[in-house]
Amino acid sequence: MKNGKVPQQLIVLGAVAVVGIVAFFAIRALLIPKSFGKYGHYRADSIEEIRQLPISYAGVNACTECHEEIFKVKSSGFHRGVSCEVCHGPSANHADDPTSIKPPAPRQREGCPLCHNYNPSRPTGFPQIITIQHNPGKACMTCHNPHNPVPPVTPKECSACHRSIVAQKMVSHHSSLECTTCHQVPKEHFKTPHLNRVGKPTNNDFCGKCHANNGPQVKDMPGIPRVDMAHAGRYLCWDCHYPHSPEGRP
Ligand code: HEC
Ligand code: HEC
Ligand code: HEC
Ligand code: HEC
Ligand code: HEC
Ligand code: HEC
Ligand code: HEC
Ligand code: HEC
Repeated sequence: MKNGKVPQQLIVLGAVAVVGIVAFFAIRALLIPKSFGKYGHYRADSIEEIRQLPISYAGVNACTECHEEIFKVKSSGFHRGVSCEVCHGPSANHADDPTSIKPPAPRQREGCPLCHNYNPSRPTGFPQIITIQHNPGKACMTCHNPHNPVPPVTPKECSACHRSIVAQKMVSHHSSLECTTCHQVPKEHFKTPHLNRVGKPTNNDFCGKCHANNGPQVKDMPGIPRVDMAHAGRYLCWDCHYPHSPEGRP
């Protein structure tokens, strides 16, 4: 503060701060809705507004009242976790007035593949088909009851449910290995996979049977790369090498 004068930049800064504070309170007073903050950090009126919206979904319990048979069939099958209105669309108006308003049923082939078409990001074991190859031209319901879908024949291949792993292995260094070389698969796994779990390798010795550099020759597999098992350190082999598509030296 030379000569008792306030420096010009402080005056400018002060003016900007005053304008900012005034603007803040002005905007707050003008733009924030009256009911904001009444119950919490939101607009209390929105509750009433949302309550006024027409209800479009009735919920499973509503359907069960009149379609008990279908509900029973569905709850014991693979689709027990799929709600009625996922397939039939929002049906509250039908539940209120069942004779004049009928919900649509997804009878075309396009509906089911939304969940079942092959997509590698689906969870492990989720049943998947390649829609254009799977019995083309016929509606899905000619062979599968939508309320209790069972494959008419138990699938024979792992690919029915593990398509992405099969596809990966097919083009990998392990293409010559069968799935069952590494997994003990109970027969019932093909029918009720969740109840009949599959065995997996549990330790590094398993991979060592083929890859340990002091291990025995493996029949019919002369070209197996051999390694010092110690390069795993304290890790499992598959912490570094994905078993369905292992990579070694670049
Ligand atoms: C109050 C009883 C009632 C409730 C609740 C009800 N329905 Fe219905 N629903 C009926 C009756 C009755 C029919 C048969 C109408 C006919 O064929 O004349 C029917 C028919 C249907 C049909 C067949 C339509 C067609 O094209 O043949 C579907 C699908 C359906 N209901 C789904 C549902 C779903 C999903 C719910 C739950 C959101 C539901 N219903 C709730 C009574 C009910
Ligand atoms: C995975 C999809 C899906 C789910 C989930 C589903 N439906 Fe359906 N539903 C269909 C299809 C597809 C049809 C047509 C069947 C046909 O024409 O043979 C149908 C037909 C119907 C019909 C007509 C009568 C009949 O038996 O063909 C009724 C009623 C019905 N569904 C009610 C329900 C109710 C109630 C639920 C829940 C408990 C439900 N659906 C769950 C797909 C589904
Ligand atoms: C909203 C997603 C969804 C839709 C739509 C759907 N499904 Fe499913 N489906 C499932 C689920 C979830 C399972 C059970 C998977 C499991 O048990 O791991 C299943 C299981 C199945 C299975 C049993 C396969 C097996 O042996 O494991 C068949 C067959 C099937 N669905 C056919 C159909 C048909 C036909 C339709 C159309 C009418 C349909 N799905 C529509 C979710 C769906
Ligand atoms: C001509 C009869 C037929 C038609 C039509 C049909 N499927 Fe299948 N589906 C089968 C048979 C048989 C199997 C079991 C053997 C196999 O895997 O092919 C099966 C298996 C499945 C599976 C379990 C995975 C698998 O490969 O085993 C799903 C999911 C499935 N079907 C969904 C559908 C959907 C969705 C449609 C319609 C787009 C459809 N199916 C149409 C006969 C049929
Ligand atoms: C009908 C569908 C189906 C078929 C066919 C099938 N699986 Fe599975 N598999 C599943 C499902 C669903 C799971 C997930 C089970 C769970 O997590 O509850 C699974 C899980 C697994 C697991 C993991 C077990 C774990 O504890 O993480 C392995 C490994 C496996 N399957 C191997 C196989 C092999 C190998 C084949 C063929 C020889 C095969 N599966 C055939 C549906 C199937
Ligand atoms: C070289 C031995 C080997 C072969 C061959 C093999 N697996 Fe695996 N698999 C494993 C190991 C090890 C794990 C455990 C991986 C983990 O826990 O991270 C596993 C895990 C799995 C899992 C559960 C976890 C996941 O990665 O999704 C499934 C499902 C599975 N395998 C299916 C198959 C199928 C289907 C085949 C044949 C196409 C197959 N495996 C071939 C060694 C193998
Ligand atoms: C910490 C990560 C890690 C673990 C754990 C690990 N590896 Fe490796 N492995 C590598 C790397 C990195 C390479 C490639 C570079 C090299 O040759 O050293 C490799 C290379 C390999 C190769 C290819 C050698 C070649 O000549 O191409 C084989 C086979 C192999 N490992 C098997 C195993 C087995 C079996 C285990 C379990 C005992 C295991 N690995 C555990 C990181 C690992
Ligand atoms: C039954 C014998 C067998 C078993 C068990 C086995 N492998 Fe292999 N592995 C092979 C063969 C065969 C090759 C491919 C040689 C080739 O590419 O010609 C291979 C290749 C590899 C490679 C080298 C890929 C490259 O870049 O050259 C790695 C890494 C590997 N396996 C890791 C594993 C791991 C991790 C396990 C345990 C989950 C395992 N293997 C179990 C037979 C086996």
